[in-house]
Formats: sequence, C-alpha cells, structure tokens
Amino acid sequence: MTIAQLSVHIHGLAVVLSLIGFILRGIWMLQDSPRLKARWVRITPHIVDTVLLLSALIASYLMFWRYGVNPDYVTVMIVGLIVYIVLGLFALRLGKTKAIRASAWVLAIAVFLYISAAGALKTATPFLSAPAPAASVSVR
Ligand code: HEM
Repeated sequence: MTIAQLSVHIHGLAVVLSLIGFILRGIWMLQDSPRLKARWVRITPHIVDTVLLLSALIASYLMFWRYGVNPDYVTVMIVGLIVYIVLGLFALRLGKTKAIRASAWVLAIAVFLYISAAGALKTATPFLSAPAPAASVSVR
C-alpha cells in the first residue's frame, strides 16, 4: 500500500468518526445534556478533525497537487469543509435559539454527506451524474 492510499484510508476513517461525533454532540445539544461539556467530548473532535484534514492534505498532494492537478471534487471537499465548520459552529456554539442550532446541525450533516459522496464517487455532482454505461462493442 502506498502512502497516498494509506492517507485516503485514514482520511475515510476520520470522516466516519467525525460524522458519528457530530451527530452525537448534536443529539446532546438538543437534550441540553451535560455530557456536551465533558473534557473528552470537547477535545476529541479537534483531534479527529485534525487527522481528517492532515490526511486529506497529504493525499491531495501525493495524488494530485504535485502533478499540478486539482480535480473539481477536491475543490468541493475544501469549500465544503469550510461550510461544514461554519454550520457546525452555529449548531454547537453560536446559534442563539435551539431552532437555529437544530437547523444548522441538520444542514451541516447534509453538507457533510454531500462532501462524502463527492469524495467516495470522485465527482463534484454525486447526486446528478449517472454511472457511465458499460463499454459495448458490436461485432458484425
Ligand atoms: C468534511 C470534510 C470532508 C469529508 C466529509 C470528506 C470525505 C471524503 C470521503 C468519504 C472520501 C472517500 C474515502 C475513501 O475512498 O476511502 C474522500 C476522499 C478524498 N478526500 Fe475528502 N473529505 C473531506 C475533506 C477533504 C479536504 C479538505 C480535502 C483536500 C484538502 C480532501 C481530499 C480528499 C482526497 C484527495 C480524497 C481521495 C480521492 C480519490 O481517491 O481520488 N477531503 N473524502
């Protein structure tokens, strides 16, 4: 396995952990749970998200950037990550009412799923593009 492949696998693992953690914290936010203030609950997401970003940067460099290439779905992931961070801040910290926090939480999850689909399917339009038809050769 190459370092690029390893980075993509680590990135994928961090993506799953990040989503599970974000969904859990959102549920605790909706329940006004004191668990949200626990030390490990506040620290772990920073570690997971740092791994998510570092592995993404290493994979992007090794697979694309060092060859002067940048696929559009990587741009989707970079812009999407920024949107996800801002929505996440509103969901768990800045939202003034629970309705605002809940809406930001749902939107953040939707953005996260869109980014994941773009990364997994390697396309900026994962919900639009039909799978390529199988190549067919007609022999007469
Ligand atoms: C919330 C943010 C992000 C999510 C949810 C996300 C999600 C994903 C997923 C699900 C994959 C497929 C993993 C696999 O095949 O095992 C992937 C691949 C990848 N991601 Fe991300 N990603 C995010 C941010 C980023 C960022 C910021 C970058 C670039 C700096 C990036 C670069 C990549 C690259 C290079 C791949 C490999 C694509 C390929 O195999 O052609 N990702 N991402």
